[in-house]
Amino acid sequence: MDPGLRRDDISKHMSSKTNTECIGKSEDFKEGKGKKVIIGFEDCAVFRKNGKLGCVTSKCVHKGGPLCDGWMKGDKIVCPWHFWEFDFQTGKGDGDESQGSYKIWEEDGKVFVETEKMETPRKEYSPFGG
Ligand code: FES
Repeated sequence: MDPGLRRDDISKHMSSKTNTECIGKSEDFKEGKGKKVIIGFEDCAVFRKNGKLGCVTSKCVHKGGPLCDGWMKGDKIVCPWHFWEFDFQTGKGDGDESQGSYKIWEEDGKVFVETEKMETPRKEYSPFGG
């Protein structure tokens, strides 16, 4: 049986200045394949490319498609609904639209995120147009 992470493993990585959360083991995040994780109350999409990790909000700013179910094209995540593309680490789209993103890193075989979202200038689109 896998004992998973112990509370002291996790709290060791917490600090009063930043909120840090362990979201799984490194081996759970496969090259080129999206994985949905929940940070706070938000669905996020984690992708790995050439060993590097990226974490962006999963709900597409266009019309809400699930980026975690998308695929990679170069350094971009392709949304499965209308094929908009977003940088897998910054969340930046091809225009002025952008997904939110989170700092993500690996340490001792585990993956951590900062739970404070890095906001980038973004344009949200109405589900009724745009
Ligand atoms: S919902 Fe993502 S491109 Fe339209």
